[in-house]
Amino acid sequence: MSSRIIRVELGERSYPVVVGHGATKTLRTLLPAAARRAVIVTQEGLPTIGDLDLPHTSLFIDRGEANKNLSTIEHLCRGFADFGLTRNDVVIGVGGGLVTDVAGFAAASWHRGTSVVHVATSLLGMVDAAIGGKTAVNIPEGKNLVGAFWQPRAVVCDIDHLSTLPESEMRCGLGEVAKYHFISGTDLLAMTMEERIAECVRIKAEIVSEDEREGGRRALLNYGHTLAHALEIAGEHDMAHGEAVAVGVVFAGRLAGALGLIDGNRVETHERVVGDTYGLRTRPLRSHDPAELVRIMRRDKKAINGLTFILDGAGGLAVHNDVPEDVVVETLRTFLSE
Ligand SMILES: NC(=O)c1ccc[n+]([C@@H]2O[C@H](COP(=O)([O-])OP(=O)(O)OC[C@H]3O[C@@H](n4cnc5c(N)ncnc54)[C@H](O)[C@@H]3O)[C@@H](O)[C@H]2O)c1
Repeated sequence: MSSRIIRVELGERSYPVVVGHGATKTLRTLLPAAARRAVIVTQEGLPTIGDLDLPHTSLFIDRGEANKNLSTIEHLCRGFADFGLTRNDVVIGVGGGLVTDVAGFAAASWHRGTSVVHVATSLLGMVDAAIGGKTAVNIPEGKNLVGAFWQPRAVVCDIDHLSTLPESEMRCGLGEVAKYHFISGTDLLAMTMEERIAECVRIKAEIVSEDEREGGRRALLNYGHTLAHALEIAGEHDMAHGEAVAVGVVFAGRLAGALGLIDGNRVETHERVVGDTYGLRTRPLRSHDPAELVRIMRRDKKAINGLTFILDGAGGLAVHNDVPEDVVVETLRTFLSE
């Protein structure tokens, strides 16, 4: 087994992220020493973690974003109660971002905070969702509106688990990888899968260490997300999250160009990196009304000051509040019509 260990530095709450082929073999050493029992939260048909020499049980979540809700949290917590899980024990989330978000929030809530260790099985989970301690569920009024910051004790990213991941889910993860490309300026595609995942983890770990609660720099991880969220809602989730992020990244480049923040070459680089290098769609699947998308963007929970975008510029990415609506609508109109 080859593996790399990246640490998320958060003082007493620092933790390792183990990336590599067969990294799940390290799981036992990553569980809290005081834990006497474990509950594995996962989905049917996902890779498993093998033998665990600790009394344990598994609780299953149905697939699909619709199950990322408060009923699932109640189902899990009642399962914890049935099994007799105490605050010294451990929850192990084995799955993609949906599982780790839900398992993380259930662990944060159980006895006001029980340890959680994540085994991320999707590319998106490995490079993003399992790291950084954001946990949440959805309510009908919006995505991820109910949640907590609850850092895991450790994260495992076992590259072998990706062998069963469907192609569409790989593309979804690559959308987030493309985002890191612009945050860091590193050509991630030139790397092996293990190096690439480790590099994305390193970038995310560094940002989370600096700004755990998204008071500043962590917001840069939302590059491409302003339009992506609106496309997901308006398109009734016809595109997977990461695919929508890829389109959002290309549009953010175009908007930065329209606002004079970057030149035409840099705008073109966004199209090229997402479309050619990562082989992802650069436009949505269906046609959209720009005014409707802007209305949805205004309702975004992060849009505290009018229309907020993360935009590229001479000094790298930065948060821009109050981006003029007429420029957004006009740029969107041209962008969507091409
Ligand atoms: N907490 C965060 O910081 C953060 C960041 C980004 C996204 N998210 C959340 O993550 C979720 C999306 O995560 P996702 O894209 O991993 O979706 P997901 O967890 O729904 O997984 C996608 C599908 O792939 C399957 N799958 C996962 N691993 C597999 C494997 N190894 N083999 C076969 N099938 C596998 C899952 O069962 C599911 O059907 C969203 O709810 C999003 O809000 C959270």
